[in-house]
Amino acid sequence: MAAEQPRRRTGRVVAVAGGKGGVGKSLVSLNIGITLGRLGYRTTIIDCDLGAPNVHTLLGVTRPGPGLGGYLNHEVETLAEVAIDVGAPNLRIIPGTARPGAANINAGQKLRLLRAIANLGGDVVIVDVGAGTAHNTVDLVTAADLKLVVMTPQLTSLQNAYSFLKACVQRSLRRLPDDSDSRAVLEDLLTGEGESRPVQRAVAILRDSHPALADAVVDVLARFGVMLVGNMTTSDHDRDVFTRMSNMISDYLMIPAPVVATLPLADAIRASVNKRTPIALADRPVEIVSAFRGLSRCILDADVKRLRVAGRAQAAERTLPIWVERDLPPAR
Ligand SMILES: Nc1ncnc2c1ncn2[C@@H]1O[C@H](COP(=O)(O)OP(=O)(O)OP(=O)(O)O)[C@@H](O)[C@H]1O
Ligand SMILES: [Mg+2]
Repeated sequence: MAAEQPRRRTGRVVAVAGGKGGVGKSLVSLNIGITLGRLGYRTTIIDCDLGAPNVHTLLGVTRPGPGLGGYLNHEVETLAEVAIDVGAPNLRIIPGTARPGAANINAGQKLRLLRAIANLGGDVVIVDVGAGTAHNTVDLVTAADLKLVVMTPQLTSLQNAYSFLKACVQRSLRRLPDDSDSRAVLEDLLTGEGESRPVQRAVAILRDSHPALADAVVDVLARFGVMLVGNMTTSDHDRDVFTRMSNMISDYLMIPAPVVATLPLADAIRASVNKRTPIALADRPVEIVSAFRGLSRCILDADVKRLRVAGRAQAAERTLPIWVERDLPPAR
């Protein structure tokens, strides 16, 4: 087994989520990974679609090795040991695991994985997650600096993307209070299921009773780091749909969520999957390649330092939610 590597903080961790299956999460993960690598940034894609991985398949890799399953089962000590090169510059992937029960990693395994991602090193780590709102998926996304939410104009996709973000927000906020009284108050405020604008309402009520907690909530939400990617568009109307979705997310959940890229529904994209040759490697069609470049730029330009700093709380810079950060060694 390889000797323990010195811990290196990952430059920026980008989760690619969407709530719904088949909306293009893995496609986006892979193409931005390739683009960032080609731009000279040391990039790792980790396939965290626990149980249904396919990033390696999209690249035509037939023998992915032990992958994430090997790490989770302690066959290796570090994630880096299961990373494989895929013939694209500056890019390695950590293949996922389809082992039975893989989706049900326990809290200890999850914490170990989150720490490993934070310490993987390199410039960018892209975390491709599966569909759904399982706690493990939500936590993998919440822990990332940037959350790319992929959606299509289909009502079901928009609905699932919104529910997914709501689950992320609720899970993050629940961990915020230090004392049990505040925790109970916040819990009460967040569980109004049919309630419209529950987050806004919670903040308005907290302002009177727990002003410091209200400030902390607003601060966490302002630094949530969400970016929307609209996929499979067929008309300008679709773009408007994404813009409305963005407004709704910032209005209801109080998190800024700009639309940073739109991708057309294109035969070339479907064909790239079947040919196992990602668009960003093939270099065409040009407009889709440049959409991935623009998206990669947004990732690189995001002010991760600002997102990590709890401004009002004057807390130290942090990569991960508080519950993980407490367990991490100091950054080097
Ligand atoms: N813009 C597009 N144009 C045409 N086809 C697309 C486009 N985006 C995605 N697809 C098709 O949709 C399929 C699903 O994409 P992908 O595997 O990336 O989705 P996913 O969100 O990762 O799904 P899962 O939740 O199952 O992991 C791809 O195989 C591809 O054929
Ligand atoms: Mg996928």
